[in-house]
Amino acid sequence: MNFNFDEIIDRRGTGSVKWEFVVTGGTWAYTDHADPQYGADRVLPMWVADMDFRCPPAVIEALANRVEHGIFGYTAPTASYFDAVINWMKRRYGRTVKREWITLAPGIVPAVNMMVQAFVSPGEKVLVQPPVYYPFFSAVENNGGEIVSNSLVIENDHYRMDFDDLARKAADPAVKVAILCSPHNPVGRVWTREELTRFGEICLANDVLVISDEIHCDLIYDGVEFTSFASINEEFARRSIVCTAPSKTFNLAGLKTSNVIIPDETLRQKFEQALLRNGLKGGNTFGLAAAEAAYTHGEAWLDGVMAYIQENYRFMEAYIAKHLPQLKVIPPEGTYLVWVDFRALGLDPKARKELMMKTAKLYLDEGEMFGPEGEGFERFNIACPRSILAEALERLKTAVFSG
Ligand SMILES: Cc1ncc(COP(=O)(O)O)c(C=O)c1O
Repeated sequence: MNFNFDEIIDRRGTGSVKWEFVVTGGTWAYTDHADPQYGADRVLPMWVADMDFRCPPAVIEALANRVEHGIFGYTAPTASYFDAVINWMKRRYGRTVKREWITLAPGIVPAVNMMVQAFVSPGEKVLVQPPVYYPFFSAVENNGGEIVSNSLVIENDHYRMDFDDLARKAADPAVKVAILCSPHNPVGRVWTREELTRFGEICLANDVLVISDEIHCDLIYDGVEFTSFASINEEFARRSIVCTAPSKTFNLAGLKTSNVIIPDETLRQKFEQALLRNGLKGGNTFGLAAAEAAYTHGEAWLDGVMAYIQENYRFMEAYIAKHLPQLKVIPPEGTYLVWVDFRALGLDPKARKELMMKTAKLYLDEGEMFGPEGEGFERFNIACPRSILAEALERLKTAVFSG
C-alpha cells in the first residue's frame, strides 16, 4: 500500500502544540507564530515530537467507527486491546508479556511522574543521562526527588554511556531509580544489548530500579536492532519498568494512551496505587480504539513512514554537508529527531535563539533544554513532508550566511 507522506496538511486551527503554541515561562502559550516577539513572518515549527503525517488508515477507520457508535462513556482496556499490545511486543521484539503486567497510563510523562511518587521519597535521588528528554528532570524535581546526572560522552560525533561514572553514582545509597531513555532522545542512540547489559548490571548491583522509557522503540533505522531492557534476562525484567506507547510510532500523542509493563507484582501494585491516588484509572475511549487498530493493522504504514524519515535524514545530512559544513549532524540510529552541533558558530544560547527565531524563522528545540550537556546543540524534528524540511534548511542557510 502506498502512503503519501509528501502531502502538506495544514494543522493550524486544531490546537496543535507544535504549530500553534510556544514554550513561554515553562508552559505552552498559544500563538499564531507571527507574534510581535518574533516578528510578523510565521515561524516554521520543527520542535515538539509529533509527526506532520496523517496516521495509518486503519486507525482513522477505527476512530470513525467508534464515533459512529455515539456513546463515549467510561472506557477501559478489553482483552482485544491487551492482545494487540502483547502480539506487537512478541512479533517485533520477541518479548513475551503477560496481560496482567500491563497497566494503562494516560501518557509516559504522567507515568514517570507517578513512578517518582511511588518509588522515590523526598530527598532521594534519581539518575538520568543528559542530554536527555527534559520532562525527566521536572518529573523528579516536581515530586520531591533529586537529579543525579550520569552525562553521556560524545566522541567523534557518537554518544556513549560513561559506565565508570555510572558505577560511582549508582553506589550512592540515596540513588533509588535510574531513568533509561531507550532509544535516546535527543541524541538518537539505540543502545546495544551489551550497553544495556552493563547499564543493568550496575543498576541492579546497587539495587537501583530501572525505568526504561522505550516510547521511541518502533522508530529504528535500517540495519539497527532495538533491544528492550527487560528482554535481556529475567532479573532485568523483574527489577525494571518498561514504558511503551503507540503515540510516537503511529502519531497518536493527542489520544493519551500508553502502556507501562511491570512483571513484578509488588512494584506493579505500588505504581497502580500511585495511579489511583491521582484518580487516573481507566482509559481514553478513542485512544484505546486507535491503539488497538494501530498495533493490529499499522505495520505497513510504520515501515513506510520509517523509510520516508530515513530518506529525510539523508536529504538533511547531504544538505548540511554541502551548504552548512560548520554544523555537525549526529547520525541517529532511531527516532525522528536529529541532534545537530552548532558550537562552531560560536553563539551563546540567546544569540542562537535569536538566529533561529528571528532570522531563520525556525522553531527548534534548543539543546540547553536537555541539560547543560546540550549547550550549543539544536534538536530538529524531521517527521514532516520533505518540502517542509527543505524549506527549513534553506531558511537556516540564509540565516547563517546573513548573520
Ligand atoms: C523519551 C520520551 N518519553 C516520553 C515522551 C512523551 O510521552 P507522553 O506523550 O506519552 O507523555 C516523549 C515525547 O517526546 C519522549 O521523547
